[in-house]
Amino acid sequence: APTAAVIPAAGRGVRLGPGAPKALRALGGTPMLIHAVRAMAASRAVSLVIVVAPPDGTAEVKSLLDAYALPERTDFLVVSGGASRQESVKLGLDALPPEYAIVLVHDAARPLVPVDTVDAVIEAVRDGAPAVVPALPLADTVKQVEPAAAPGDPEPVVATPERSLLRAVQTPQGFDRATLIRAHETVTDAVTDDAGMVEQLGVRVVAVPGHEEAFKVTRPLDLVLAEAVLARRRL
Ligand code: C5P
Repeated sequence: APTAAVIPAAGRGVRLGPGAPKALRALGGTPMLIHAVRAMAASRAVSLVIVVAPPDGTAEVKSLLDAYALPERTDFLVVSGGASRQESVKLGLDALPPEYAIVLVHDAARPLVPVDTVDAVIEAVRDGAPAVVPALPLADTVKQVEPAAAPGDPEPVVATPERSLLRAVQTPQGFDRATLIRAHETVTDAVTDDAGMVEQLGVRVVAVPGHEEAFKVTRPLDLVLAEAVLARRRL
């Protein structure tokens, strides 16, 4: 089944500090987005990558894709993004040609996901799962809190979910095309990942092992880690 990857890359990356949109910041001298695009195109199953660019950055993203070496067997499309990640993914799906039966959605902010993780997600969708997420057990215990009485006050802890049953979910998330499109057409609640929308349809989502190097570059310390991972790969 032909497989496409949608990469939402339209976020500003405010938590990373001031500067260019997150996806366009350099990692080892190469924009984070280019790493993410290469990570998807590294899978032999992926024949189309749709990049969802910042609305004021589509021309810049197109010229970046032209400037960096990318696999010849992969096609690339650039579309303009929206105000939320959810909206950006929807705009990417609107550009998806009908022949693609499997769709991956991958954060530009996860530039270093290994190809084995990408392939494991695709494999699980091929084997019949309508929605697949790569996921890892948590190192930290997680607490549910209530909003503080006043800003700056301590937050009351209300629950401690059993850690062994929790997973930190990464991308690429993989979907049967029709399921993902239906989710984006039906679900209007704000969610933080695409599988969450599919869950709201009542469709079964499964988790496969994720990878430490698929972490999301969100805060400045994540850039330090990403640079170190890249340097180690280049040894
Ligand atoms: O902000 P966060 O790290 O959760 O963003 C996850 C991904 O969604 C990033 O790759 C970011 O560029 C993308 N995004 C987007 N459009 C937005 C907001 C975020 O494509 N409006």
